[in-house]
Amino acid sequence: MREKVKVAIMGFGTVGTGTYKILTENRELIVNQVGADIEVVKILVRDINKKRQIEAPEYLFTSDADDILENPEIDIVVELMGGLEPAYSYIMKALERGKHVVTANKEVMAKKGRDILTKADENSLRLCFEASVCGGVPIIRALKNSLATDRITKIMGIVNGTTNYILTKMSQEGSEYEEALREAQALGYAEADPTADVEGYDAAYKMAILSSIGFHSKVDIDKVKREGISKVSQLDIEYGNELGWTIKLLGIAQDVEGKLDISVSPVMLPKQHPLAGVMGVNNAVFINSEAVGELMFYGPGAGQMATGNSVAADIMAIAKQIVMGNKMQSNCSCFTDKDYVEELKAGYYTRMNVINKPGVLAKIAAVFGNFGVSIESVLQKKTEGDKAEIVWITAKVGESSFRKAIEAIESLDVVNSISSIIRVENN
Ligand SMILES: NC(=O)c1ccc[n+]([C@@H]2O[C@H](COP(=O)([O-])OP(=O)(O)OC[C@H]3O[C@@H](n4cnc5c(N)ncnc54)[C@H](OP(=O)(O)O)[C@@H]3O)[C@@H](O)[C@H]2O)c1
Repeated sequence: MREKVKVAIMGFGTVGTGTYKILTENRELIVNQVGADIEVVKILVRDINKKRQIEAPEYLFTSDADDILENPEIDIVVELMGGLEPAYSYIMKALERGKHVVTANKEVMAKKGRDILTKADENSLRLCFEASVCGGVPIIRALKNSLATDRITKIMGIVNGTTNYILTKMSQEGSEYEEALREAQALGYAEADPTADVEGYDAAYKMAILSSIGFHSKVDIDKVKREGISKVSQLDIEYGNELGWTIKLLGIAQDVEGKLDISVSPVMLPKQHPLAGVMGVNNAVFINSEAVGELMFYGPGAGQMATGNSVAADIMAIAKQIVMGNKMQSNCSCFTDKDYVEELKAGYYTRMNVINKPGVLAKIAAVFGNFGVSIESVLQKKTEGDKAEIVWITAKVGESSFRKAIEAIESLDVVNSISSIIRVENN
């Protein structure tokens, strides 16, 4: 019987310190469940002289990755550095050296997950990555275990706290995008360079990970359609509000008769939908499945202790198996390679600025009609002099027909500009 499971942490920032704190402060709680002690024996950082948020013995720190990767005593390597490299190479080397791995790295898992999981399986090792999606929300374990026997048809997620904070500010306080972004940056919710969050890259990585598990398929990150929130304006929030909708940056992944459609974009969502009530930096994932029906997972998508807990729980799960001497289970549940839906049908909200004169509405409606786009409603909003703002809500339509209609409308002499187009998720 093992008395100790030895762990090394690579990265001692927000998540690394949270993980260390949980493993040390809840040591007894963990020992009682694992049947052995989990001991942190090395911590990798860039700068060993840097003042840390929490204290840890000096002898634990190193800036040489090989002190961990080449140490045969270490059972589990916990990668909490972030970024693609050197994280990916370190994870692969750890697996080659027979070490189990835990990571919180969504970029590595979205871009290289298949390679890593295959390597882990080849070497009968565990690779756990709960914290890579929605920080403290246990969504991956739920998909991999509790829902493993069910068929999932749709996954919708608010999986990026920064953008949800910005959109919440815009809708609750009437702020414009730039102002809400500056506030998010001042509070530490957004990076100085916010591109990864506001342009939807971070959410796309997370949706690729969730889809690969939920739909048991390899997912190519380049096939995830992505649009950020930087073009969402206060006017769209106001008009959406009048229509009973709220705007969220939503990841939507669907299995449509065996083909996948995965996207991240701003979406008009009915206010009654459970995801519409998710405010601030919180995350939530809403799942439709054949047997269970509708499920929602909600909670903190980031943060030192919440994310640290997801990492610590992964470490504990592996430690339990080591102690019991179990043969390690297969990591990869993405055993198919599904195609992608060529064209998904969706409804669209379109705001345009037009010349304010009789016959304009009919002219635009005729173009929509020519491309087979049915209109559900039209709202004439503010009129200023010879200019008017019109909002069109379409019925569900194929994206290419819709885009062709918009192109033709844009070239009409009565149309000044197409100000915004936002997908409507109305069912
Ligand atoms: N923050 C969250 O709430 C959250 C939530 C979910 C998932 N995640 C994921 O968790 C991971 C870590 O995020 P974080 O927020 O904890 O990052 P962080 O605060 O920036 O910490 C990164 C740590 O990694 C170390 N590091 C970075 N590159 C290194 C290298 N090349 N060699 C050695 N050490 C290196 C840094 O060392 P120094 O301290 O010496 O600079 C630092 O201790 C990322 O993959 C992130 O996406 C974070």
